[in-house]
Amino acid sequence: MTQDELKKQVAKTAIQYVKGLPIIGVGTGSTVNFFIEMLADIKGDIEGAVSSSEATSERLKNIGIPVLELNSVGDIEVYVDGADEVDPRKKLVKGGGGALTREKIIAAASKKFVCIVDESKCVDVLGKFPLPVEVIPMARSYVARELVKLGGQPIWREDYYTDNGCEILDVHNMDIVNPMELERTINDITGVVTNGLFAHRDADIVLIGKGDTVDTVE
Ligand code: 5RP
Repeated sequence: MTQDELKKQVAKTAIQYVKGLPIIGVGTGSTVNFFIEMLADIKGDIEGAVSSSEATSERLKNIGIPVLELNSVGDIEVYVDGADEVDPRKKLVKGGGGALTREKIIAAASKKFVCIVDESKCVDVLGKFPLPVEVIPMARSYVARELVKLGGQPIWREDYYTDNGCEILDVHNMDIVNPMELERTINDITGVVTNGLFAHRDADIVLIGKGDTVDTVE
């Protein structure tokens, strides 16, 4: 199977987790895009979705699913999103698509976070994928110097602005032996909006598309 076929396979499996739910959370990225396409089949049951990015909102609206403000709904039953890396303890690196802050907010406000990945995303130790850090633009250089002190090599995602009007530093060569501690340490740097480690609010369920099967890690 191609990587896209694996993404489709896992997206299809995720549909069963949102069946019958009036309000769901929807993440961002190419895997989630397949999931959104499949939502079209059950859209009659869906009152609306809370979206993690402008791109996802656009796609949801295009298939006729209303986009709801997080502030106007209570806790969300299920949030479905992809990831750039997943470790065996369901800790994640996210933000390759730049939507990490809204994704983290929706994950926090959701009772169940179902993460959908193809098997290429599974790693023993996080950190091969550069860790995205969203920063207030005026703080970019300061934050970059602080990240160097932590042992990383931050690269500015040039000419890129998040949906929140902020910038991204992609931090290479981070030794992520303790994701819980590193998530907190980076978030404590003044000027950081958030970073792409999902260790404190990790996934509740990871679905892994493998071709012959979809593994479920709970
Ligand atoms: C976007 C994300 C995505 O979930 C992550 O980048 C995975 O994307 P894809 O499904 O395209 O591989 O965190 O900010």
